[in-house]
Amino acid sequence: MQLLNHLPSDIFLRGAEHHAEINSTNDRALELCRDPKLPVPYLVLADQQTSGRGRGANRWWSSDGALLFSVIVDAAEYELPESRWPQISLTAGVSVCEVLGKVSSATVGLKWPNDIWLNDRKVCGILVEVPPVQRGRLVIGIGLNVNNSFASAPPELQTIATSLCDESGAVFDRNKLLSDVVRQLDFDLCRLAVNDPSLPVLWQSQCVLRERIVSLETSQQFVTGCCLGIADDGALRLQTHSGEQRFYGGVVRRIE
Ligand code: BTN
Repeated sequence: MQLLNHLPSDIFLRGAEHHAEINSTNDRALELCRDPKLPVPYLVLADQQTSGRGRGANRWWSSDGALLFSVIVDAAEYELPESRWPQISLTAGVSVCEVLGKVSSATVGLKWPNDIWLNDRKVCGILVEVPPVQRGRLVIGIGLNVNNSFASAPPELQTIATSLCDESGAVFDRNKLLSDVVRQLDFDLCRLAVNDPSLPVLWQSQCVLRERIVSLETSQQFVTGCCLGIADDGALRLQTHSGEQRFYGGVVRRIE
């Protein structure tokens, strides 16, 4: 895939690399972050990953035709205070939703905190990581299922995940999707930096869990409640027996 040759010059990236195969674009990005001279924003792109990672101990399965990349950004360049870093994942989710909404007629939504759904199935996962060195840099990893059909995926994934091509039968231009997502991400990070109120409006309106009964596992408890949506600060709002509770982390275990 000659993706990098097709990236438009107006894009905000200062450096990029493309791998036919790599362990994980996030791992490579975290390694690159050690170099204080690395030109950022920097893109790490791969056709295939041997150890793609998701949140926690999750693995990210992908096959040929997916879009797999990580963008290294400098928070200071965006004037992005640390207090807003927890909202970067939702912000990137809004960016992906925006792009998918333009190319697909399927229902696009955001599943708190880091998934994008297409027709009720996961089409994209986002993994934001803060490198232990060169504080201020952030790695935003995005795995988007584009032309990789889930017909050949492990059976346990076939019912919960999908790709753009599975939903429409069409083949998509990954070069264009990549440049559109990266451009939109730049725009949305700028919005996050200035606390633009339109961002929380978007993640609230795109929340696929709203009005559904959600069971969430956090490090301290297992809680079930009716989802009231996503708060302006990125918290998941659940109406529980003891009133409304807000959660800043956790794993959604069940949705009814
Ligand atoms: C999740 O669903 O929990 C997040 C998945 C993120 C997957 C992407 S693929 C590109 C980048 N490299 C990785 O190893 N993970 C992210």
